[in-house]
Amino acid sequence: MAKKDTRSTPQSILIIGASRGIGFELVRQYREAGHSVTATVRRKADVKKVDALGAKTIVFDAVKSPLAAVNRAAGHADIVIFNAGVLGDRGKVGDRHSAAIFDQVMRTNVYAPLRFMSAVAGKLAKRGAKLAVLSSIMGSKHHMATSGAVVYRASKAAVNMVARATALEFGPQGLIVLALHPGWVRTDMGGSDADIDVETSVRGLTRVIARAKLADSGLYFDYTGKKLAW
Ligand SMILES: NC(=O)c1ccc[n+]([C@@H]2O[C@H](COP(=O)([O-])OP(=O)(O)OC[C@H]3O[C@@H](n4cnc5c(N)ncnc54)[C@H](OP(=O)(O)O)[C@@H]3O)[C@@H](O)[C@H]2O)c1
Repeated sequence: MAKKDTRSTPQSILIIGASRGIGFELVRQYREAGHSVTATVRRKADVKKVDALGAKTIVFDAVKSPLAAVNRAAGHADIVIFNAGVLGDRGKVGDRHSAAIFDQVMRTNVYAPLRFMSAVAGKLAKRGAKLAVLSSIMGSKHHMATSGAVVYRASKAAVNMVARATALEFGPQGLIVLALHPGWVRTDMGGSDADIDVETSVRGLTRVIARAKLADSGLYFDYTGKKLAW
């Protein structure tokens, strides 16, 4: 049975990929709400600004760093958010595609969350915890209207499959797994023309996570709580 989860009850949160953008704002808002936050950044130079929000910060590259430190943090987490991601290029099928960019996008957006979930899902399930992965509506075949950023789209479709598989495997033991679309957000990735600011996106994401129940495990939601088709 999942734990009661209200925003006013202090909880332990782990955020993977918090140096900037949505991840940084997740740390800021969870700290503002009085939760205990452990967050990861890739570069030592980014530790200070995340620490300054009152988080405990771990230097961790989601593709290649040893998992021991994040695994320990997951041992007492109620909510874990895998946020790290890259866009790669915006190429369509008819453009040239570099194997190096393909590898970077797939390793970051698919392999890294799979490696992480494989390490932590069992212990999170025992705690009735929640595990959210930042996907994108660009990974939805149902909502697809253009072919741009085809490699990124393929990576987010693949991570949706990873989230769904994790839910099937660990949901029966109590893990709530969510694939989340944050909206089109004004960050380095989303660009300045995007629809919403990062504060609005993260207010919505944290609300969706707080309200999620075991029956929602393996589902795909946007930041407003709307259920998305795969
Ligand atoms: N912005 C949007 O409109 C939008 C829409 C849909 C989905 N999303 C998804 O939301 C998530 C966050 O996006 P964002 O807009 O905040 O992007 P962003 O501003 O580009 O930030 C990306 C974050 O991921 C981290 N990261 C990248 N590769 C990593 C690795 N190997 N190990 C650890 N951290 C790594 C970056 O760390 P460094 O600073 O070290 O590079 C940074 O903290 C991504 O998964 C993205 O695909 C965003």
